[in-house]
Amino acid sequence: MKSTDAAAGDGEILRSKARRRRCQRLAALLTVASSAVALLWVGLHERKVEARATAFPAVVTAAVSMPADFSPVFKPGREPFIDAVREYFQWQSTPVQPIAFNHRLHLQNGMQCTSCHAGAAEGPDAGIPNVTFCMACHQAVATNNPEIKKLTAYADKGQDVPWKPVYWFYSSEHVRFRHSPHIGAAVDCQECHGDMTQQTVAVRSKNLNMNFCISCHRAKGASADCITCHY
Ligand code: HEC
Ligand code: HEC
Ligand code: HEC
Ligand code: HEC
Ligand code: HEC
Repeated sequence: MKSTDAAAGDGEILRSKARRRRCQRLAALLTVASSAVALLWVGLHERKVEARATAFPAVVTAAVSMPADFSPVFKPGREPFIDAVREYFQWQSTPVQPIAFNHRLHLQNGMQCTSCHAGAAEGPDAGIPNVTFCMACHQAVATNNPEIKKLTAYADKGQDVPWKPVYWFYSSEHVRFRHSPHIGAAVDCQECHGDMTQQTVAVRSKNLNMNFCISCHRAKGASADCITCHY
């Protein structure tokens, strides 16, 4: 009597163990499947955003009048929703640029950082030059290069090159960064962006984390109060 009870009890335990294992396996499977769906959705959405940008008709672009203070440099926009998903997964992947730009080559040809990133000395954003700026040279220079053909195609459609941001912070970190005080204090671009004369498209070669910012601020006697860098 006693032994059958024990056997029945053991059977119950074994069955519940098996049930728990099945549950765990199902939960793992669901996690993998939902992550896959999320990633796929982000991928598709991102492609859709790009398609929407390229499908913007020239007539519409022409109809949008430029404000009087329109500047020839612009800052690439970001997709807020994609940002949120990326942030959730703490995902800062290396961007693939629409044109294989080459820093090394342009710098070898004697150009300065601020010829293209003119905002760095004056304001918060360094800025990326617009397509008209590039075409000032490239309507004549290297016109047979396939990358320049892509550039020309954007210019012909009256569109800017949709460059992807390389250096940026998550909005929830509420970081306030400004280029001009650094350039004013003779902090070299290289300190924060690495040696661009060795890069083609820009890569995130320095990890601009809080410790990196604060150690230099302490060393150079700049403010290390939270509100200097956060809002
Ligand atoms: C002051 C003139 C000038 C300006 C402005 C300029 N480039 Fe160039 N670019 C050159 C020269 C010179 C070369 C080298 C051509 C060669 O090697 O035949 C070059 C080469 C290139 C190449 C080919 C790179 C390779 O690896 O072969 C690309 C792509 C390019 N430029 C993109 C751009 C873009 C995008 C802009 C605007 C942000 C721009 N350029 C602005 C002068 C310029
Ligand atoms: C003290 C560090 C530091 C120095 C020095 C610095 N940068 Fe930056 N740069 C940053 C940070 C941080 C970001 C990202 C800012 C953000 O997303 O708010 C950035 C972003 C950029 C961007 C893309 C976004 C924008 O601002 O338009 C460009 C281009 C750029 N830097 C070029 C330069 C150039 C050129 C110089 C030198 C003249 C320079 N930077 C010097 C830290 C620095
Ligand atoms: C001929 C124009 C040109 C010159 C000169 C140039 N850049 Fe750029 N830069 C670009 C373009 C176009 C991009 C966007 C493509 C890319 O990310 O590489 C860019 C991107 C960058 C970025 C990444 C921006 C982001 O989205 O975060 C940094 C940082 C940067 N440049 C720094 C420099 C520094 C530092 C120098 C000087 C040593 C320099 N650049 C010289 C045209 C130029
Ligand atoms: C290599 C040194 C160095 C690094 C790295 C650096 N800074 Fe600075 N920062 C300075 C100096 C020097 C000043 C100028 C202080 C002044 O003018 O009194 C400054 C000024 C500033 C200011 C303006 C302060 C004001 O009073 O207006 C801000 C904001 C700032 N830094 C944010 C940052 C952030 C965010 C980072 C990291 C992404 C960073 N800095 C990285 C050296 C650095
Ligand atoms: C010199 C600039 C600077 C100063 C001063 C500074 N921070 Fe930061 N902080 C940053 C940067 C840049 C980041 C983003 C780092 C990254 O993305 O890896 C950051 C990130 C953070 C984060 C992480 C946010 C998140 O969501 O993960 C917290 C929290 C934070 N800072 C708090 C503080 C506090 C509290 C102080 C004052 C004691 C302070 N910071 C002073 C530059 C600074």
